[in-house]
Amino acid sequence: MRLLHLDSSILGANSASRQLSAAAVERFRKQVPGLEVAYRDLAAAPLSHLSGEHLAAGQGATPESPAIQKDLAASQAVLEEFLAADIVVIGAPMYNFTLPSQLKAWIDRIVVAGKTFRYGAGGAEGLAGSKHVVVAVSRGGFYGAGTPAAAMEHLETYLRGVFGFIGVTNLEIIVAEGLMVGAEQREKAMQGALQTATSLRAA
Ligand SMILES: Cc1cc2nc3c(=O)[nH]c(=O)nc-3n(C[C@H](O)[C@H](O)[C@H](O)COP(=O)(O)O)c2cc1C
Repeated sequence: MRLLHLDSSILGANSASRQLSAAAVERFRKQVPGLEVAYRDLAAAPLSHLSGEHLAAGQGATPESPAIQKDLAASQAVLEEFLAADIVVIGAPMYNFTLPSQLKAWIDRIVVAGKTFRYGAGGAEGLAGSKHVVVAVSRGGFYGAGTPAAAMEHLETYLRGVFGFIGVTNLEIIVAEGLMVGAEQREKAMQGALQTATSLRAA
């Protein structure tokens, strides 16, 4: 079994989502003998934004510049790594009400027609349905149903939408929130989320 572990926080050793994603991976390592783990740090080694040249090359145009050839190779590697994974664990902090642009750049490389979704007579059909995806969300405030900021929550909702689009039904989202409210709330939220992470079950 293969696991792909991704982090996207820019806060290095102080990152809450990195701590949670690491705990989830550790849990799966203990559960699945011989688990193969690939790690990608999207903040330390960011992918570039999609470009017109990139899309044109994907549609058969001959890539002109060495830079775009390198970018296409990176894209291919990222997509293959995702397709090969049975389990995907993602550290996803909330920045400005949504996901870090580094994580969005990764998503732009894996939502690919003919690979992770296709259009048929009935509309879009996801092709990545066999994967177990776990997302560790960390956020400074509170965004639960009924809270004043609920309408500003565009991280969890976006990730549910995009993974649903590519067919993932086994999606688990672990949330540690209120992390900027105070030390006591941070401790409580992290303990709760860590407990959830260490109770995960490989499907
Ligand atoms: C650039 C930046 C933007 C942030 N924007 C938000 C936000 O919109 N809403 C929120 O609740 N917290 C926000 N925060 C707080 C983070 O979500 C919080 O610090 C969380 O722990 C980040 O996860 P990390 O520690 O894994 O990076 C922001 C933090 C940073 C650094």
